[in-house]
This record gives sequence, structure tokens and C-alpha cells, in this order.
Amino acid sequence: MCGIVGYVGRGEASDFLLEGLRRLEYRGYDSSGLATLEAGRLSVTKTAGRVEDLSRALVDSPTPGSIGIGHTRWATHGKATNENAHPHFGGNKKLALVHNGVIENFRAIKERLVEQGCEFHSATDSEVVAHLIATELENLPAEVHDSIDPYAPLVEAVQNALLQLRGTYGLAIVFRDWPEAIVVARLGSPLVIGVGDGEHFIASDGSPLAGHTDKIVYLADHEIAVITPEAIRVIHRDQGDVHHDVKLLEIESTDIDLGSYAHYMLKEIFEQPESVRNAVRGRLDKDAATAVFGGLNLTAQQLQSVQRFVLTACGTSWHSSLVGEYMIESLARIPVEVEYASELRYRNPPLSPQTLLFALTQSGETIDTLAALREMKRKGHATMAICNVVGSTIAREADGGIYLHAGPEIGVASTKAFTSQCVVMSMLALYFGRLHHLSYEAGLNIIAELEALPNQIEQALETHDETRRIAEKYAHCNNFLYLGRQYNFPAALEGALKLKEISYIHAEGYPAAEMKHGPIALVDEHTPSVFIVPKGAVYDKVIANLEEIKARGGPVIAVVDDIDSRVTDIADDVLLVPAVADFLQPIVASIPLQLLAYHIALVRGCDVDKPRNLAKSVTVE
Ligand code: G6P
Repeated sequence: MCGIVGYVGRGEASDFLLEGLRRLEYRGYDSSGLATLEAGRLSVTKTAGRVEDLSRALVDSPTPGSIGIGHTRWATHGKATNENAHPHFGGNKKLALVHNGVIENFRAIKERLVEQGCEFHSATDSEVVAHLIATELENLPAEVHDSIDPYAPLVEAVQNALLQLRGTYGLAIVFRDWPEAIVVARLGSPLVIGVGDGEHFIASDGSPLAGHTDKIVYLADHEIAVITPEAIRVIHRDQGDVHHDVKLLEIESTDIDLGSYAHYMLKEIFEQPESVRNAVRGRLDKDAATAVFGGLNLTAQQLQSVQRFVLTACGTSWHSSLVGEYMIESLARIPVEVEYASELRYRNPPLSPQTLLFALTQSGETIDTLAALREMKRKGHATMAICNVVGSTIAREADGGIYLHAGPEIGVASTKAFTSQCVVMSMLALYFGRLHHLSYEAGLNIIAELEALPNQIEQALETHDETRRIAEKYAHCNNFLYLGRQYNFPAALEGALKLKEISYIHAEGYPAAEMKHGPIALVDEHTPSVFIVPKGAVYDKVIANLEEIKARGGPVIAVVDDIDSRVTDIADDVLLVPAVADFLQPIVASIPLQLLAYHIALVRGCDVDKPRNLAKSVTVE
């Protein structure tokens, strides 16, 4: 939530800043703003609304200079107004600051600063940090200002201020009297530095850097950095000056182009044959009939002694964890618990030492997932990340892990990350199954199923036109039910979440039989039920549930893998997907559900890629 950018070099800062904010807009889009510095003057232009609004505002109110910072906001404290937009000035325009995170003790600090005469112009917690740093700068002893190191006052003032804060922050600050330096700081919110030739870039993640540099430095918690056109100096709160590794950024600028698609969500839905291929590539070993992972960092003996998995995640990643639970318990016969990360971080469940934690996360930055991972590490459990964003905080902090290799996911509603996470879970189930009881032949069969999956996803995408037609028929409805059993129960949850997120229609996912215990009361001719009903062990049972809905006049949309009159005669609308093994059904069935949500949102005139109130990367509790 909230995106930060910064530039210091020889070019026009606002060019990079504005484009960078466009790429980070998925992190929040309540307001945006830029601050640049030229000829001893800080110029700030900011506005409630999207980055495109900012771009228009900059025509009348340009921000010149070759050093600057920018911000796109997801509101936490204070409404989405011009005043609350970042950057915020501190100390009578001595500095300008952008912040991502939450300062929990801002009220107490604000009261103190007001007593000292500070004037506040916003309701944000972030402005407090700006004034606090300015005050600390003012109060430094003269010898710090006289130091041989011209940036010593900035380092000292920022460090003094940070020591007083409770909460999380990614910060970037420009100072009127230091025209060549940006100071950044991080605790809990991500920040990266792009290394250029005579220029440096700052961003909340690597995407704004693509096309500018492929060299990236990941800032760690409790580090601050002083960044000038020629140098990066990183200072840790406790260790002083520390070495920083320069890593390779793996994002190409073409990865984040919309191409010919109307929306990122649609592009990402159609990328799924390829993203699934990438998740599987190089990870299937036919000789041993198992999966191979380079990054688990545990020996086969250590992995074999695992007695229980805890899978933790938020949002869509929590749904793929549920799919994983069904897969691992059924194929590997190892008990699995799926925990909301926001609950696990404060719970204290009794877990044996042989419990292995998997944190599933597209972004690798979700604060609750990170906190749950840290809590489990603290208790001595081995932790693994199943993550899409290379070099993200969770990927770096876990003991080992598996990357999805799905490429950047920009639409706020997750699509390709979900299917890739499910595929990785199925490979984990294969791997652990083969460490235990699963036969060579069963392993080979699973490999064959996984190899066939990308083409089957292509076929499932052929439901596109039909989903458009069905969307037009039902887009006026205000309630939807999504129902499935076994592997398809999490797919029902995910289908409902997709619709809810982007079309603002109330939708509930339920195990198909469980709907008799409450949700059936909602059923009437304006409440469609979307059934996931592929052939399999519980096929007849789901048909019985479908009949129960029809008997009460509810419209039924059925996702099937076979044209069987028992379903097609009852259902009002049918979406046909290819038949696959039961454990892969939630992946294939999700494709038409994603398309259906997309088209319903379009018919209702919703902003598909940037739904209201949501952000892709939730870095506040
Ligand atoms: C937000 C996003 C969801 C995502 C969830 C978890 O709510 O809007 O699409 O599933 O965060 O994010 P993660 O990056 O941890 O998978």
C-alpha cells in the first residue's frame, strides 16, 4: 500500500517519478504527488485522485529539477484529499517527505510538536515524521553541522527521529539545503534502490526501474541510505555503515506493458498458459518421477522428517493455500493447517518441531504474512516462501522457497499468481508424496497431468465469449453464490472473491452442501449460483445441490467438464472446461470464473485494474 519513487542524477527527475508512479499505482491510488528541488527551492505538486490527475496538474504546476521524490497513496490516516496527499513538507519547507506505512504513535508526537510551534496541514501520520526530522535537524549540536561529512546532519537527524517512531515505514526525504542527496529509510515497508550511471532511482519495488537499470539494491529493515548521483551509503541502526549488495533485477520493461489488452487483468488471465509453463519448467524429474526444487535449502532427510505443514497467507494466496491443503493431504498424506496470516501472527498454536511453514504470497511484501513468517521463525520452525516477486522481503527472509516465475502481476485482482501457486502446491504434493508412500507410477501420472495443463488452460480460455454473454445477463444482480466441493470449494471461494473485488457485487463461496445451512435463504430469481461441477467422486452430490437451488427458483451457471444432460438440462448457463485430474480442477475451473468476474465488472462500468479501496500489496496491518 502506497508506492514511493525517487530520483537523483542528471536527468529531469519528474520524468522518472511520474512514470514510476504509474507502475506503482497498483499499490494505492487515492492521491499522488511529486516534490523536486532546484535552485534552493522545493516544488511540490499533489492531488487527490489518480496519477493521471497528477500528470494533468503538472502541466500547470511543473516540478523542475534533477532530484525528487514521488508518492501514490492508499489512505490510512486521513481522507483522500489534496492536503493529505504526499509529499509533506517539514520545518517550514526545509524538507519534503513521502511515507509508506503506519506510524502508530503519531498522535503523541504531533501533540508535542504542536506545542513546540509546528504547523500541520494534513491529518496524516506521515506529516508528523516530516516535522519530526526537521525539528531534529534544527536541534543538532553545531559540531554535527560542522562535520567533515556533509551528510552527517541528515543521517543523525533522521536516525534520531526514527528512534522515536513506533510502526512501519518506507521513507524518502529531500532536503532544501542538500541539493544532491535523498535519504531513505525502511522498517517493515519495502524500498529498493536502482543503480544507474551517474544517477540513482528509488522505488517501493523493482517495477519502476525496468528499462532504466538492471542493478538493484534491496534495503533491509533498520537501514537508512544516503543516495547521491554518484554514491549510495547504507547505515544500519545498530551496526553503522554496512556493505550493500548490488543484485540483478529480472524484470524487463516489456513485462509491464499492457500490449493490445484493454486491462492488465485480462492480459494476466490470458498469460496463464505461459505462467503455468514457467512454474513447471525444469521442476519435473521423469527419471525419479518427482518434482525438483532448487531453493528449499533443506536436505531430503530433513524434509522427510516433516510431520506437518502450516500454510499461511492472505486473500487469494490464502485460497491457493487451501487448494494446497487438499493436494498435500491427499497426495502426500501429511497433515496441513491453513492459517490466515493475520491470525497466525498473534496466535500461539501448539506445533511440533517437525512443522514446516510455507508462506504463500504473490508480492512477498504482505505485512501480515511477513509477521507470521517471522513469528514462526522465532519459534524455531523452518520457513519457506512461495512467492512471485524475486528479491521481495518474504523471499529474502524465508529459509528457502520456490518462486512462481509468473512475471509481474499488475491487476489488483490476482489471477495468474493464483493458478501458479496452485501448480507449485501440486508439485510440492508430488515431491512430498514421493518422499513417502507415492509410487513411481503415480508420480509419473502426476507429471503427465502437469505437462498437459498449459494446453488445457488454453482450452479453458475458449470460454471467453460465453463468459461475456453470461456477464451481460447477470450483471444487474446484487448477490451471487459460488459453490463447489472438495478441491473445488477453494475455487468457489476464489471465484466469489474475484467478483466481489472488481464488481462490488456481494458474493459468497461455500462448500456446495454447506449452503443449506444459511446461504440458501438468499436464493431467489435474482441470485445466481455458480456451480463448479466437474465429473469426479462427488459429482452426483453436487448435482443434488444444484437441484436444490433450482427448486427454489435460483438461476444456475455451471462450470462443467462434460456435456451431461443431468447438468445441462437444469443449469441456465454452462461453461465447458477440459477434463483434468481432480487435483487440477480448481486451476482449470478458475479460468472462466476470472473471465466472468472481469466481464461483469466491465458491464457495471467498474475500474477493473484498480478497484475501489483495494491495493495489490497490503503493507499495513
Ligand atoms: C491484497 C491483494 C490480493 C492478494 C492479497 C495477498 O488483498 O489485493 O490480490 O491476494 O493482498 O497478497 P500477496 O501478495 O501476499 O499474495
